[in-house]
Amino acid sequence: MLYLRNLIYHPTASSTSILNCINLDLAPQQLGLIIGPSGSGKSTLLEILSGLAEPTSGAVFWREEKLSAEQLQQLAGLVFQFPERHFCGGSILEELRLGHPELGSEQVRQALQEVGLEHLSWSASPHALSGGQQRRLALAVQLIRQPNLLLLDEPTAGLDWSMRRQLVSLLAKLKKDRTLLVVTHDAGDLLAIADCCWSLNHGKLEAIDPYTLESTVQQPLPAA
Ligand SMILES: Nc1ncnc2c1ncn2[C@@H]1O[C@H](COP(=O)(O)OP(=O)(O)OP(=O)(O)O)[C@@H](O)[C@H]1O
Ligand SMILES: [Mg+2]
Repeated sequence: MLYLRNLIYHPTASSTSILNCINLDLAPQQLGLIIGPSGSGKSTLLEILSGLAEPTSGAVFWREEKLSAEQLQQLAGLVFQFPERHFCGGSILEELRLGHPELGSEQVRQALQEVGLEHLSWSASPHALSGGQQRRLALAVQLIRQPNLLLLDEPTAGLDWSMRRQLVSLLAKLKKDRTLLVVTHDAGDLLAIADCCWSLNHGKLEAIDPYTLESTVQQPLPAA
């Protein structure tokens, strides 16, 4: 179980708090969805939860244990908003083996299959992939680390309809054995697989009911 308690992030360079007393509980095998407009603090929150930034005050707990940034780096896997900016490997194989030189061919095959990239050549450059493929490769890199908490920043942004549907069903499968927290400015198809939902505005988090929200999403008109 993930607990955030009174999390505040107020860097000295900023005149106001970017995250303002965030409280959140998220159970295992659940997908939490945070919806907020641009600049609301979504990526900042995930940076804290992945141990890349330290909160100004407040705490993150995992199963009653208060975690340091180093412990969060072990626990959590973050798929960045723009994963292509973070690729370091010259090929898909190198990217997957970064930090895991022992990774065997079968594990590489499985990781790529899990995200639907099994048809790609392992020697292809990550930078030569489409946006959706890069997003899925970044997810495979995190899955290899087997994080208990998977954090996804705008996982469906810029994907076409069929790619979005594929990614949403992949996330529904992944939440069966880990905790997922997804942040987005556009909930869309993600609402259908969300167990808990919050809105984030100017760094303030508020719980919302995903079922009410889903029913307000405009359904396409039936064909005449
Ligand atoms: N270290 C920092 N110092 C000062 N300001 C910061 C810092 N980090 C983030 N910010 C500011 O905090 C606010 C929230 O940024 P953040 O990237 O978390 O928003 P976001 O919700 O992810 O937006 P987007 O949807 O555009 O990705 C922005 O106004 C940003 O400029
Ligand atoms: Mg962001």
